[in-house]
Amino acid sequence: MIQPVRYAGGVVHLLDQRRLPAEEAWQACSSVEEVARAIETMAVRGAPAIGIAAAYGVALAAARGDSIAAAIRRLSATRPTAVNLHWALARMESRYRQLQAAGAGPREVAAALEAEARAIQQEDLAMNLRMAEHGAALLPAGARVLTHCNTGALATGGHGTALGVIRTAWQQGRLRHVWVDETRPVLQGARLTAWELQKEGIPHTLIVEGAAAAVMRSGQVDAVLVGADRIAASGDTANKIGTYMLAVLARHHGIPFYVVAPWSTVDAALPSGDAIPIEERDPREVTGYGDVRWAPEGTPAFNPAFDVTPAELITAIVTDRGVLRPPYRDAIAALAVPDEPG
Ligand code: MRU
Repeated sequence: MIQPVRYAGGVVHLLDQRRLPAEEAWQACSSVEEVARAIETMAVRGAPAIGIAAAYGVALAAARGDSIAAAIRRLSATRPTAVNLHWALARMESRYRQLQAAGAGPREVAAALEAEARAIQQEDLAMNLRMAEHGAALLPAGARVLTHCNTGALATGGHGTALGVIRTAWQQGRLRHVWVDETRPVLQGARLTAWELQKEGIPHTLIVEGAAAAVMRSGQVDAVLVGADRIAASGDTANKIGTYMLAVLARHHGIPFYVVAPWSTVDAALPSGDAIPIEERDPREVTGYGDVRWAPEGTPAFNPAFDVTPAELITAIVTDRGVLRPPYRDAIAALAVPDEPG
């Protein structure tokens, strides 16, 4: 199974997603600053995966005897939208406080924080496998689905969220075809989702986002499956830019629109999607790619990395705790109370 983040000997190893699919190269990060830069530049990306990388970044700080508070501050300033990053760092911080209160020495702290980061990674994989079963059961036999961005093993502790549902549905023999949105401007669909699907031999076709309406209208899409970076208490969901557009299109064409995410993506403290911070990235991601510039020099560009899909456009939210249906405020409140992680 693909696992994009590894930790060994006080070094965080990241499968460099900027270089896929051309090269399967690993980047070794031996300082908190290197992990933070890797998250900012998207060597590692995807909500759960950046949480896992940041958790190992804290373990790395402990192994080096660096300040844990400074490590957490630096790592939490890398990307604002995905709540999993902040959730994972809060969990590492709370474990650190417990250890401090118990008078643990530096070696014990380092070992315990490494164990906590490994637990976050393993639990994410387990949540993905549970969600995948719940989500696959929603699909009709012979389903043709459309997905956006990359929500696969590369974006998580393994298996994936929306792509995890697709993987499991394929293994169960209920999936016929995947339409893969290219996902401008960083091309996570074209570069990463197509790479994962090709490795598994799952039939797929790449399209530009602008083709999604026409493909839906042609009757070749039975469901849209997307991941999430943050889900507010209302069910409003932030995900990769272009997701909201797909939800509007799905509603127009009467196609179910499913969000798939582990509970670590739910931010029950946030009343609605209006309060979700949306990352704005370098306009040069829009005016070109890598060294190639296609817009005239000096062209102004707006580059929000995420958008918010209003809850009323979401047919169901598939989590490891079960499938949520509207009204989401009630469904989320009911599941948020009994057993918060940690
Ligand atoms: O900017 P990215 O590539 O980190 O954005 C990723 C997404 O928007 C994914 O859909 C989301 O994190 C869910 S992945 C399990």
